[in-house]
Amino acid sequence: MLRLGVNIDHVATVRNARGSAYPDPVRAAKLAEEAGAEGITAHLREDRRHITDSDIDGLMEALTVPLNFEIAATDEMQAIALRHKPHAVCLVPEKREERTTEGGLEVAREENKLAHFIAPLRDVGCRVSIFIAADRPQIEAANRIGAQVIELHTGAYCDFHAEGRFDERDAELARLTEMATFAHSLGLEVHAGHGLTYETVQPIAALPEVMELNIGHFLIGEAIFLGLEPAIAEMRRLMEEARA
Ligand code: PXP
Repeated sequence: MLRLGVNIDHVATVRNARGSAYPDPVRAAKLAEEAGAEGITAHLREDRRHITDSDIDGLMEALTVPLNFEIAATDEMQAIALRHKPHAVCLVPEKREERTTEGGLEVAREENKLAHFIAPLRDVGCRVSIFIAADRPQIEAANRIGAQVIELHTGAYCDFHAEGRFDERDAELARLTEMATFAHSLGLEVHAGHGLTYETVQPIAALPEVMELNIGHFLIGEAIFLGLEPAIAEMRRLMEEARA
């Protein structure tokens, strides 16, 4: 079964644009739950540009589906994760100046540091996931440091599609396909996400090793036109169609 995790960061982006109390990302998360999302993803960035600490408090209190808590590998974020003990912690690279998470985490060069970072999170029962490019040495390193899950970065595949660079898109899809199989063969659970839309989701949803997709920006945008529940229902329908 392929799960959908809905990323609600950009509900907070809209709220923060006006410094108001609405729209509330916790309310969006509850609606997403009702619409069939099997999980909620939220990224607490160092600069708190969208999700805030109190959003995480609210999500931990309100959700009945698992929270996938995205963080950079910093001491501050580790302490917050250890306090909340969410179902999953997804480690992502983070640069202040970027608009979004641009690449996968560099695991191979930071193996020792990340192994030490992960151990206490695993000890309190979090499933640790690493957001990673479809690159064999990075996947091998993620496995060595004790991650249970990798999330393959689908951003390049989606960008090539949007730009009409279909040969490059197909080459990236081939890499994602091969690396999903490779990661699975090592015993890692495989997730995928970033930039997915109704147009790009199906080839990724069709990969048999992929257990979860995390999708945010497109769904929150589409919710402006359709409402959150129909936007999610259509994504779920496409995922199930691809899987069948
Ligand atoms: N997965 C990870 C690890 C992410 O960092 C993000 C973006 O925050 C997503 C999935 C969702 O990407 P998008 O918002 O482009 O759907």
